[in-house]
Amino acid sequence: MSDSAGTPDTRPRMIVDCDPGHDDAVALIVAAHVADVRGIVTVGGNADLERTTHNALVMRDLIGIDAPVHRGCGHPIVAKPHHAPSVHGESGLDGADLPTPVTPLDGTDGVGFIIDTCRAEEGLWLVPTGPLTNIGLALRQAPDIAERIAGVSLMGGGSFGNRSAVAEFNIWADPHAAAIVFETFEHAPGSLVMAGLDVTHRFQVTPERIDATRALPGQLAEILTGLFEFFSGTYLTRHDDGSMRGAALHDPLAVLAVTHPDLFSRRRRHVAVETTGDLTAGMTVIDERKLLERQAPNCDVLTDVDSEAAFDIVLDAIRASDPRIR
Ligand code: BDR
Ligand code: CA
Repeated sequence: MSDSAGTPDTRPRMIVDCDPGHDDAVALIVAAHVADVRGIVTVGGNADLERTTHNALVMRDLIGIDAPVHRGCGHPIVAKPHHAPSVHGESGLDGADLPTPVTPLDGTDGVGFIIDTCRAEEGLWLVPTGPLTNIGLALRQAPDIAERIAGVSLMGGGSFGNRSAVAEFNIWADPHAAAIVFETFEHAPGSLVMAGLDVTHRFQVTPERIDATRALPGQLAEILTGLFEFFSGTYLTRHDDGSMRGAALHDPLAVLAVTHPDLFSRRRRHVAVETTGDLTAGMTVIDERKLLERQAPNCDVLTDVDSEAAFDIVLDAIRASDPRIR
């Protein structure tokens, strides 16, 4: 792709599959700045599908990009749908007065859009920041796309949980879809990258970072300040050990893992998803054994991030997205 001046866009190409959600909204802002966003697909997760799709359309307008937005799946493959109003509010994006979207939805078959786009162009990244329903179904319906993509960089999982003692929300919400994705990369040539809670809890919206956002000019910065205050508020009231100085800004790390891999430490491991356990459904089982009989690695497990550098990119992306500054 080229810009209006005919300069080729060499940024990584990606489809962001999301359930906005405060941190999904930031992932979209960051992706629009550092990547070539070929499409946005929505999934039910933080809120129901109608709300997450509405929120994706709001964000597309605010960011001012023309990437198509396609509605995906509202129901997990097997599990019942569950949302996260205690974290993101009933709307999925509580905390700011958001404008009404003015650009229409581009399609209602998000899974088909993923399949068609991956068949039309090789080397795309799929970047899911919500439950993996759309990605899992796309890989199941069109296994050939696994040979064509650069990889999947997802936010989810980790060595501890937030929705249960051992399960992170995105994996827990649709463990069967997640299992398809992780099993695919036991054979697929591309990369599977997991930005799980181990790394995302190291990337927090601290009071200083909210102040830095507030200090930026423009409508998007004002909206983001409200969203950050709400999101951090829910984290601070829901944690009791002093480990959180604000919300964990999970989802943009799945984008930055593609565009700025040097910001991260990682371990190459085999990861499987537990789909059935009464206590453990949705757990990402990371094989840390030193024994030779361990399974071959299928995943880059992110373990740490240069959070100052990563948040500087978030601030740059907010600045760059404001039409009055562009
Ligand atoms: C994940 O769940 C949602 O609350 C966030 O948007 C993030 O994708 C963190 O567990
Ligand atoms: Ca999300």
